[in-house]
Order: sequence, then structure tokens, then C-alpha cells
Amino acid sequence: MSTIVVPTDTKELAIDAVRRAADLLHAGEVVALPTETVYGLGADAFNEAAVAKVFEAKERPSFDPLIVHLPAAADLPRVASVPPEIEEHVGRLAAEFWPGPLTIVLPKTEAVPDLVTAGLPTVAVRVSAHPIMSQIVRALGNPIAAPSANRFGRISPTSASAVEAELGGIIPMIVDGGACSAGLESTIVQIEATEKGKPIFHLLRSGPITPDMLKPFGKIKRRKPTDRPSTEPQDAPGQLASHYAPRTPLRLVENPADFKPEPGKEYALLSYRGEPKDGYLHLADWAEVAVLTPGSGKQAEAAVRLFFVMRQLDESGVDEIIAEPMSEVGLGIAMMDRLRRASVKGVDERPDGTEVA
Ligand code: TXA
Ligand code: MG
Repeated sequence: MSTIVVPTDTKELAIDAVRRAADLLHAGEVVALPTETVYGLGADAFNEAAVAKVFEAKERPSFDPLIVHLPAAADLPRVASVPPEIEEHVGRLAAEFWPGPLTIVLPKTEAVPDLVTAGLPTVAVRVSAHPIMSQIVRALGNPIAAPSANRFGRISPTSASAVEAELGGIIPMIVDGGACSAGLESTIVQIEATEKGKPIFHLLRSGPITPDMLKPFGKIKRRKPTDRPSTEPQDAPGQLASHYAPRTPLRLVENPADFKPEPGKEYALLSYRGEPKDGYLHLADWAEVAVLTPGSGKQAEAAVRLFFVMRQLDESGVDEIIAEPMSEVGLGIAMMDRLRRASVKGVDERPDGTEVA
């Protein structure tokens, strides 16, 4: 199959791209779509045969449920039946963070095929802020089920060319909406009502909506990052030991003293600032040094660049990628989560933090 990459640079091109993508989705095809977090591989969420194509293209096991994208919060009743005890809390989160990179897990309606939710009684829902995605989901008229547009277990794509590298030749169309502005997959929460006003937010995946941003609305609990038997439905995402992984081994080295280069091996350094005083630059004769914050130096810049840089280093031909740690505050929480999951050490050695904030 040849994969068409459709540009959206001008108003006319964007209108045409939206129409073509909606037509293909309507016909039961899959299309790679831009969102503000990462690119998604979309299908009409109410068309089971189309959703099956998403799993097939990604080689994603059917026990890993998909995220459903809605045009607006007002469309929630089409896919979720919100229990009265959390209705107010859902409303507050939606008002504050939608459209945007927050996914909420809620009891599903019968309209949502079991394949979308991997048989779970709940559905993960969000409203994307990307204007092209937003227009496509409106044009289709049905919700769009879309996981990240990568092969299962690989790095999420944050550009159309990254999608092409993952799924070129396998899917009919990629809508090029430019580089993703957040660069990390959405934050996923499940809401638990409590006796005293504020709810508990179970943080199933950290992401661009940080614990500090959620704190005014409820108490945050992070689920223990345990490995589950791999055939059970994944009701907390990314729990498989290897997730978001480059093909080249990546190792998060939390302390510079723990890295001893082996002779004859070529290493790349993934550095937050590229500052000698951080202690990593002098550890080896690096074949490549990639800096996450060459511009503003801010975390948002690092988040936008993280998957892009991981992908670049993966293609550079080194034997191993060594990642420097970064401070686990704000977006650093989600970035360290992704680095740990990508790291050859896997999730087993994560510090046991059940409470994030
Ligand atoms: O930013 C994002 O969320 C992107 C864009 C495309 O929207 N999507 C994305 O999808 O990251 P994916 O499939 O790579 O990750 C979705 C995660 C899965 O790992 C899954 O475990 C979790 O969401 N999930 C889906 N349905 C769930 C449910 N009912 N309960 C708990 N977790 C669920
Ligand atoms: Mg994914």
C-alpha cells in the first residue's frame, strides 16, 4: 500500500485534508492524524471493523484499549455514562482542560464496541486541541478511536515523518499537521468520588497536564507501576516493561558515577541541558550529544523534543543511548516516566512513588 502524506499548510489545503481524511474514516479506513500530544492512528470509534484495522496496523495486542476522541465535552454522553457522584468533577476538569491533553476514564456506553476498550467496562476519552484533528472529528460526525501512531511498544511519533517511518506502506493516509506542540502523550486520570468534596484522581499516565495543574481539583494518587500479566486488559497504560522504546538500547543513568563506558562501544548522550556541570559530558567520548533544551531551556521545549531526539539518536547507529536524568517536577515527571519505560532497565527499578503530589 502506498501512504499519502497530506499537507495542511494553507487554508485551502487544510480544508481539503480534512475532507479527505473524514471520507476515508467514513469508509472504514484508518488515517494518521495530528494532535497536540502525539500523532494518533484514527478510526471511526463506532465501526468495529475499522477499529480492528488500527490494532492490525500497529501490531497492537487486543488487550490494550484505545483512547476515544470527541469533538467537544458536550458529546460525552455518546460514549460515556458519567456516574452522578463524579459528574461535577468531570465537568470541572472538562471546563479547565478540554480541549487539551487530558484523558478521563469513565464508564462506557453500549455504543462503544468492546474492541475499543479491550473488553473493559470503561472508556478513555479526550477532546484534542489540535485544530485539524478537531475539524476531522467534527466532519466525521462520530468519535475517533486513536492510539499513538507507532508500532506497538515503539516511540510515539510527534511529526508526520515519524509516522511515515513507523507506518509508511501500511496505512493509506497521514495528515501532516506539523510538529506536536506538547510532544508527550496525554495525562490519563480516573476519578473517584469521596465523602469530603474533593475527589481522588488516579493518575494512570503522567503527561502534559501535570499534578500541580490537577491539584486544585482533587487529590492525586499515582498507581503503583507494577507489571501485569501481559494478557490482561491494560487498565493502566504503558505497564508493559518495554514501552516507548527505541530499537537502540537506551539506559537512563540516574547518577554519573554509575556509567562506565565499555571500550569499542559507541555511545550517544541524551542530555537535558548539555552543561558540563551536570556531570555527564566528560564521561565518554560521545559519538553524539543531543540536547533537549537548546533554546529556551524550559521544560516545555524538552517535552516537545524528547521523542523527536530519541528517534534521531535511535537512527544514528550508536550501540547505546545514555540518558541523563532530569528533575522530577512539572513536565519532568512525565518525561522521566517515559525515559524509565524506554530504558533497558525497564520499570522494575522505578522508585516506588505511589503519591505524586
Ligand atoms: O495523547 C494521547 O493520549 C495520544 C493521542 C493520539 O490522543 N494517544 C495515546 O494512545 O497515547 P495510546 O493508545 O498510545 O495510549 C492510550 C493508553 C493505553 O495504553 C491504554 O492502556 C489507556 O490509554 N487506556 C485506554 N482505555 C483505557 C481504559 N478504559 N482504562 C484505563 N486506561 C485506558
Ligand atoms: Mg502509545
